[in-house]
Amino acid sequence: MRIVPKVAAMQKLARRWKRAGVKIGFVPTMGYLHAGHLSLVREARQRVGKKGVVVVSIYVNPTQFAPTEDLAQYPRDLKRDLKMCHAVGVDIVFTPSDTEMYPGRQNRKSEIGNRKSFSTYVVEENLGRGMEGAARPVHFCGVTTVVAKLFNLVLPDVSVFGQKDFQQAAIIKRMVSDLNFPVQIIVAPTHREPDGLAMSSRNKYLDVEQRAQAVILFHALQAAKNAVVKKSLSAAKLKEDLRRFITAAPLARLDYIEFFDPETLLPVAQVKRGAHMALAVYFGKTRLIDNAQL
Ligand code: PAJ
Repeated sequence: MRIVPKVAAMQKLARRWKRAGVKIGFVPTMGYLHAGHLSLVREARQRVGKKGVVVVSIYVNPTQFAPTEDLAQYPRDLKRDLKMCHAVGVDIVFTPSDTEMYPGRQNRKSEIGNRKSFSTYVVEENLGRGMEGAARPVHFCGVTTVVAKLFNLVLPDVSVFGQKDFQQAAIIKRMVSDLNFPVQIIVAPTHREPDGLAMSSRNKYLDVEQRAQAVILFHALQAAKNAVVKKSLSAAKLKEDLRRFITAAPLARLDYIEFFDPETLLPVAQVKRGAHMALAVYFGKTRLIDNAQL
């Protein structure tokens, strides 16, 4: 396994593989890896085979965090991440610094309208409007920009994303299609703890009681699934029922519940089997998200 911290070195390697016809599988991450990330790595390996190469990037991308968010606290443990990558047979871990990724970008507080030598961003203008995009206005522009940059550096044939971030995966698929990136996007299932909580680097922020109650997100998805097995229900009524269900966990503070069409991400007024549900819930300052097809 090789660790590549420099943009120029990553691009050179990728070009060499391309010329040699080696398939490149890519899993972008922000590190603090867990079994969910590793399931994406395994998927990438399956797609490119033994002769292909699997690249994992570890980069806590500042442009996808608002100034009020958890960029500074975001958990980091490169040593542990590298061990995990090695154990699952990753070939290259790309670990760029901020100055490598955004040369010339200076004060993140004056991000918009005051960009120094970095001033090109990628914006998806449709699928990113609701849900996470509404709750976190700068988030998806940061995600699409960094993923576009990473694709240009790693030159993947296939890149694997998690269903855990359903809206993010939909936006990336759209960006790839709209901008003609020659990469196949795979969306892999959400990996869960034994009690159903979706694995997330942010679960580390939870104290013991919050952790115990955090399973309410999964239970709310299950409850919604059960409610629409045989009949369709009004989204407003189901939201109200689930809001009450979630506040039964005293430490939970609901941010949003949305029912939507999995292709367009547009909200539906009537919820039936096959519709998609997403929700965001705060435990203290920690914001957790989850989603499922009903
Ligand atoms: P990060 O949160 O580290 O997630 C990296 C990838 O792992 C994403 O595709 C995410 O959906 C997936 N993932 C997270 N938890 C998962 C779980 N429990 N099961 C399966 N997959 C899971 O998402 C990002 O980083 C960033 O936005 C990034 C795409 C790297 C751009 O900076």
